[in-house]
Amino acid sequence: MEVLEHTAETTKGPIQFHDFIGNSWVILFSHPADFTPVCTTELGAVARLQDKFDERNVKVIGLSANDLTSHDKWIEDINEVNDVKLNFPIIADDSREISTLYDMLDYQDLTNLDAKGVPFTVRSVFVIDPKKTIRLTLSYPASTGRNFDEILRVVDSLQIGDKNRITTPANWKNGDDVIVHPSVTNDEAAKLFPGFRTVKPYLRFATQPGTQKA
Ligand code: BEZ
Repeated sequence: MEVLEHTAETTKGPIQFHDFIGNSWVILFSHPADFTPVCTTELGAVARLQDKFDERNVKVIGLSANDLTSHDKWIEDINEVNDVKLNFPIIADDSREISTLYDMLDYQDLTNLDAKGVPFTVRSVFVIDPKKTIRLTLSYPASTGRNFDEILRVVDSLQIGDKNRITTPANWKNGDDVIVHPSVTNDEAAKLFPGFRTVKPYLRFATQPGTQKA
């Protein structure tokens, strides 16, 4: 599914979402609310991974249904508590327009509401590619902080899979063996993945392209 074009107010100024994506991958992720404990650890964890996102041509952008003043003040806490310098934009979606567009609002957890009883967001993650296609959607409850190494792992799998005719197995990590895509014939596999291993006719492993030893 392609992401819709929309504007957003962010801590780095207003953006047009398609312009923001440009030629990058984007991770759009929501948190329930500013000045809450789990969210403070999560945003710190993302800020700490900034180099890893940069290496992969990934822009990160956060979102919650709080306003810019709140975000700016809370970023000071995130930086202090996690000893980081948070540099990515956070969308101020106090109108909930964008959360509604992406179906991020929490209709289950009755502790995840604002003072007027209106739902905040769940912990959504969208991985968006440079063609502006949503490639992964995750939705975590407010009570559970996410593992952002897992998000990086998915980005690695998607990026390697886009360049090569491969998929990646359970618990795969960058550098591990990959799976030859089912659409690849054995004759093609012999050329594309010399030395590939057949476990079953439908399960063939190969060394991750680009990691072969000289
Ligand atoms: C938290 O970030 O700790 C949190 C936010 C909303 C509901 C529950 C927990």
